[in-house]
Amino acid sequence: MTERKRASATACSNIAFIKYWGKQDFDWNVPLNDSISMNLSGAVTTTTVEWDANLAQDEIYLEGERVLDERGLRISRYLDRIRDDWYRMGARVASVNSFPAGTGIASSASGFAALASAAIAAFHEGHPDESDMTRWARRGSGSACRSIQAGFVEWTAGSSDADSLSQQFCPPEHWDLTDLVVLVSRSPKTISSSQGHRIAVAHPFMKERQKLLPSRMLALKGALAKRDFSTFGEIVEHEAMEVQAIMMSGQPSALYMQPGTMELIHAVRSWREDDGLAVYFTLDAGPNMHVLCESGNAPEVRRRIEKLVPRVEIIENRAGPGAKLHDDHLF
Ligand code: PMV
Repeated sequence: MTERKRASATACSNIAFIKYWGKQDFDWNVPLNDSISMNLSGAVTTTTVEWDANLAQDEIYLEGERVLDERGLRISRYLDRIRDDWYRMGARVASVNSFPAGTGIASSASGFAALASAAIAAFHEGHPDESDMTRWARRGSGSACRSIQAGFVEWTAGSSDADSLSQQFCPPEHWDLTDLVVLVSRSPKTISSSQGHRIAVAHPFMKERQKLLPSRMLALKGALAKRDFSTFGEIVEHEAMEVQAIMMSGQPSALYMQPGTMELIHAVRSWREDDGLAVYFTLDAGPNMHVLCESGNAPEVRRRIEKLVPRVEIIENRAGPGAKLHDDHLF
């Protein structure tokens, strides 16, 4: 290895249709159940990593600002795991998001997918192996492994760090779906997803959920394969509400939905049930709504959201690409 090695990568965030909530192994982010998601083309992180033997400590820059707080520490702790495996070196890391900071959009998925890709690639001669990439992304933040491959991605829970891997279920062009992410609230969440996974494991409904998930996953994959939007939407919405119910009724309780979230839930259901517009929603560990439709209906769905919530910020996404290495270095 030369004294300095640099690589850059770009990765999308993703939205889960069947969610990862609860872990078997908290050190390695091995989940309780399989999950499946779509990459979000409009929510992208670009990261450059340079390993430098002359650096006494890591230098982390987020959105152009050097960070010395918990966010920087989390990245350094993650880099320590890579260093344990290979070589002791400091790292210079710069990362920027295509979406505005502090909006509650899950930046950990795109962030750790881009960070893992760049950090590992900088150590490799060629392109790192895909299963190595998904493992390293998962070790940073579980859902990040689903941002390595393009389009619609399945994460098989497995039983250990070795066999908990993501793989593409279908490429982005398989189905022209749109996810309109409606930024309902910018207030920081009181319960992080790391805490949420722990609370979920202790929840008495969790055993039942685990029994229901294999057939739900099969049905969802069937609807995706056949591009059957109403079957797909019914499953996705039901899954979102089940996970929110577990979040809300956990101890402590995580109430991520805000009044604006609830208003949109009722609106989406009324557009569908009263007006026959094919539109569904899902939610993550936050207040923002993911409004899902086939892309032909996206202008109409967007018009309705903007009429209901004037001036609201919306991030419009199609099925996005996988993580990519490139030479557009940030420094
Ligand atoms: O990757 P984490 O630890 O931030 O967990 C993400 C969990 C959800 O976004 C709520 C669901 C999912 O599958 O992405």
